[in-house]
Amino acid sequence: MEVVAVDGRLKKCILDLKRKKQALILAHNYQRAEIKEVSDFTGDSLELSRRAAEAGGSLIVFCGVRFMAETAKILNPEARVLLPRSDAGCPMADMVEPFHVASLRAQHPDAAICAYVNSSASVKACVDVCCTSSNALLVVKGLAQGKVIMLPDRNLASWVAKHTEKTIIPFEGHCYVHRKFRASDLVQARRAHPDALIIAHPECDPVVLDLADEVASTSGMLRIAHETGNRELVIATEWGIIEQLKAAFPDKPVYSAGAARTCFNMKKTTAEDVLLALEEDRYPVSLSADVIEAAGKALRLMLELS
Ligand code: 13P
Ligand code: SF4
Repeated sequence: MEVVAVDGRLKKCILDLKRKKQALILAHNYQRAEIKEVSDFTGDSLELSRRAAEAGGSLIVFCGVRFMAETAKILNPEARVLLPRSDAGCPMADMVEPFHVASLRAQHPDAAICAYVNSSASVKACVDVCCTSSNALLVVKGLAQGKVIMLPDRNLASWVAKHTEKTIIPFEGHCYVHRKFRASDLVQARRAHPDALIIAHPECDPVVLDLADEVASTSGMLRIAHETGNRELVIATEWGIIEQLKAAFPDKPVYSAGAARTCFNMKKTTAEDVLLALEEDRYPVSLSADVIEAAGKALRLMLELS
């Protein structure tokens, strides 16, 4: 897959305007290389949530998908948060709605409800706590309840269930990008690269996770790569991380487990979109005060527990 560098003049326009408007550009690890080049910080969902919360009442241009920009707004309501592509969504986040939460609450009144950050602001507003791929286990273990409903990702729920004594009730959501990795991809990768460390994202199917050496968030994968010296890596997650690993470790062989997989929503944002966002103040995230207050409780409890 081709890595496209941002045009020098376009980059200068973005950086000049960013300075003038005192904006902070945050980018998820799956964003295009051209976006990472102009961003102030690139990270996983948890790191980006923390950065947004600490950003003061500034202007934040959030390069990622909608649930991430909403999380930034909820954790920092004073900030103006822009999502440069209003159509950058997450199909998994769209699989769960508040009525599902209400129905699960009625069925399991003694259970805590934990929403993966990959969910809408209105879903976060009716759960007890949130989690990300990097802190899900810590959050679940830190809750007082012995029974926890985890939504929307059934694979993250199943991975947490394997590592805790608590009763985990999964929801049937999934990520279409991570579900494309097959057990046979990992078996073949292991055969082709017997010395490699295989790292998978917890959104992959349980059979895939069972075959991996490590299960980690996107930034967790980067941290593990730092710790493994020159050891080859096989990665089961979206292509953006593999591209980032290849750039950070030019001497380390890094392979995708099977074909490279792309999250099309994450790749929608281009450098031009970031310039337009700064020039035309588009597209601001707007949430009701009630949703910000209720969803903020669930997100702040997550930050306290992790
Ligand atoms: P991370 O929090 O691990 O970056 O994951 C976000 C995501 O959407 C993975 O598909
Ligand atoms: Fe959503 Fe999957 Fe894309 Fe992550 S990779 S943003 S979970 S569709």
